[in-house]
Amino acid sequence: MKISAELESDTDGESETGVPSGSGSGLVVAVDGPSGAGKSTTSRRVASALGLRYLDTGAMYRALTWWLLQRGVDVSDAATVAGLAAGPVIEVGTDPETPWTRVDGSDVSAAIRTQEVTGAVSAVAVVPQVRAHLIAQQREIIAAAPGIVAEGRDIGTVVAPDATLKVFLTADSAARAQRRTAEAAWSTQDQVDRRDHLDAAQSGRAQDAVEIDSTGLDLDEVVATIVRLARERAATPYQQSPRQKSR
Ligand code: DC
Repeated sequence: MKISAELESDTDGESETGVPSGSGSGLVVAVDGPSGAGKSTTSRRVASALGLRYLDTGAMYRALTWWLLQRGVDVSDAATVAGLAAGPVIEVGTDPETPWTRVDGSDVSAAIRTQEVTGAVSAVAVVPQVRAHLIAQQREIIAAAPGIVAEGRDIGTVVAPDATLKVFLTADSAARAQRRTAEAAWSTQDQVDRRDHLDAAQSGRAQDAVEIDSTGLDLDEVVATIVRLARERAATPYQQSPRQKSR
């Protein structure tokens, strides 16, 4: 299933309320896609609308990268990075209204968004020991939540393959570079393309994901579409797979 500006579905008049808040639904919404496709804002708004928690898995890779850079570690040295993967205590807040990231108790929510971290994070995220360590933690957070929207690159394929709803959010690379620039003035289309390339091996579109091309859609439309799909799945219990059975 693919939803785009050309094949736009009927989202008019879609209210963002209606699924019981904090319903303990066990609903897991996986949102994957490349950088700048609008995953974070979309995921947070979907989580708020549905009364679910929110998990930014990219923030965890960024947090580890920040910690390594603080220690002067050469992040291109995969063996050293692998050995330090479990070094810091990384915590993330899952309230979609106020997400935060902490490393060893210190708030690094802003520090992990710098150009330095963004330029180094792909090299860290590619290391298998890093992925194994952070994915285990992500699965625990998802399993402990009453319901959650988790965003990243491999949520629907690896972290939560039994998610109730999988969304693969895309946008063309010019639109993504424009969005990234709105967030961080130093971000260029070349940098977005380079990161896509470096992140490609860790990124996947699940076969059963709904692909949404947000290029010609505004945020409200994208959010309303995902909320509607999540409600449909929530109302159809037989579509919900047992969660985390792969753990
Ligand atoms: O979404 P983001 O830009 O904050 O992600 C930061 C980096 O982490 C990015 O280079 C891709 C990587 N990442 C990953 O490999 N797997 C995830 N589930 C989330 C992010």
